[in-house]
Amino acid sequence: MFLDLVRKRKSVRSYIDRAIPDDLLYEIIEAARLAPSAKNVQEWKFIIIRDPATKEALVNVAKGQQFVGESAVVIAGVATQTGYIMTNGILACNVDLAIAMEHIALAAAEHNIGTCWIGAFYQDKAKELLHVPDDCMVISFMTLGYTTEDFNQSIKQRKKIEEIICQERYT
Ligand SMILES: Cc1cc2nc3c(=O)[nH]c(=O)nc-3n(C[C@H](O)[C@H](O)[C@H](O)COP(=O)(O)O)c2cc1C
Repeated sequence: MFLDLVRKRKSVRSYIDRAIPDDLLYEIIEAARLAPSAKNVQEWKFIIIRDPATKEALVNVAKGQQFVGESAVVIAGVATQTGYIMTNGILACNVDLAIAMEHIALAAAEHNIGTCWIGAFYQDKAKELLHVPDDCMVISFMTLGYTTEDFNQSIKQRKKIEEIICQERYT
């Protein structure tokens, strides 16, 4: 059931030293490829980072978050078109990449691979390290890796549903 998968996904910040097979990694990224995007522009690139030296450099880019260097793979979600503002005033690439990256997180969870969103990083340092062109933006990173953490022990600290829904108008 889909909600079981949503409950299972949690931020994992402790990884074991075990590689993710290529075919599985590509299956996980397939979930990003299939994600929706505004006007279906698909203006994105997903940089797969496995080189230990690059991952280590990413620790610094991500403000010293050590587990970034301990994950098996880091995926950088890069927006290749950053100027499209939707009629609603919202920048489309932020939404598009967020959906695609969460697809990755959910697809990984299905295979008991832990993930963590990384939004705390320096944009300029990330671009320099990964040779991302100036007119693109790294929207987020995601760490991926096997873990000894129990996915069934995913305790969600969340607001109650009554706190977050309104009926018919904002209240
Ligand atoms: C956009 C975004 C950026 C995030 N950045 C970081 C980060 O830099 N480092 C980190 O450890 N967790 C980061 N997180 C993870 C959140 O802290 C986490 O999702 C939240 O506490 C809920 O916990 P859960 O993912 O286990 O359900 C980020 C999450 C999102 C959605």
